[in-house]
Amino acid sequence: MKKLVIANWKMNPASYAEAKKLAKAAGLSAKKHKNVKVVVCPPFPWLTDMSHEKEAGLEYGAQDVFWLDKGAYTGEVSPLMLKNSKVKYVIIGHSERRRLGETGQNINMKLKAALANGLVPILCVGEDAKTHSKGKLSVGKFLATQLREGLRGVDQNMFINKKLIVAYEPIWAISTTPGVKKDTPENATETIFSIKKLVARMFGILLSDITVLYGGSVDSENAYGFLSCPEIGGVLVGGASLRPADFGGVVKIASELS
Ligand code: PGA
Repeated sequence: MKKLVIANWKMNPASYAEAKKLAKAAGLSAKKHKNVKVVVCPPFPWLTDMSHEKEAGLEYGAQDVFWLDKGAYTGEVSPLMLKNSKVKYVIIGHSERRRLGETGQNINMKLKAALANGLVPILCVGEDAKTHSKGKLSVGKFLATQLREGLRGVDQNMFINKKLIVAYEPIWAISTTPGVKKDTPENATETIFSIKKLVARMFGILLSDITVLYGGSVDSENAYGFLSCPEIGGVLVGGASLRPADFGGVVKIASELS
């Protein structure tokens, strides 16, 4: 199966002209290295223009979504709007949104609403530094809670039909976390394997039904290590996705390893 490379631009760049340049560069990389799926997740003001224009080689994703299709919810963007704008993916439960107060229940509602509209949710889970320092048992419990809350009531076929993706993003390894520490492919693989076992048990499905990405300071220097692990279905790239040469390097490696 083709590996996925997802660019999470977060709250960048500041203008549509810059966003177009980034998308163009990402599109060129994707056209050159075809054995990979490249998804770009711009901020909302740029997203729908881009998804309508559709740079060749790219798919588009949102960085968040609301749980209802329409109504009096000032400031929110609905899954139906995304679907009608040709957006295919949506990141849900990113640690930067959880930090702003998003709860497990909110995340679950968003995820189910996204699925109901045919969007592919990328459910982000990952422990903070304190939990990580307490060891594997604590990490396992932390992730199990996030997965149970986020995936409550989801149909197992969503996994089997590859309509739902999980991303393991340990907060301590995200490039903008103060005192960031790089994760190792060995640790990431081990944790992702335990995530797959847990989800397989929860839904009565096979490990191979579950796609889990890795995210946390991935760039062209370290991408080979993560992407060469068969357990890792792709990468979610933040900082490096804003540097075209770096991001292009990740796309090339992912294509070679798919
Ligand atoms: P990073 O961000 O690649 O800059 O660590 C990843 C993410 O937060 O999705």
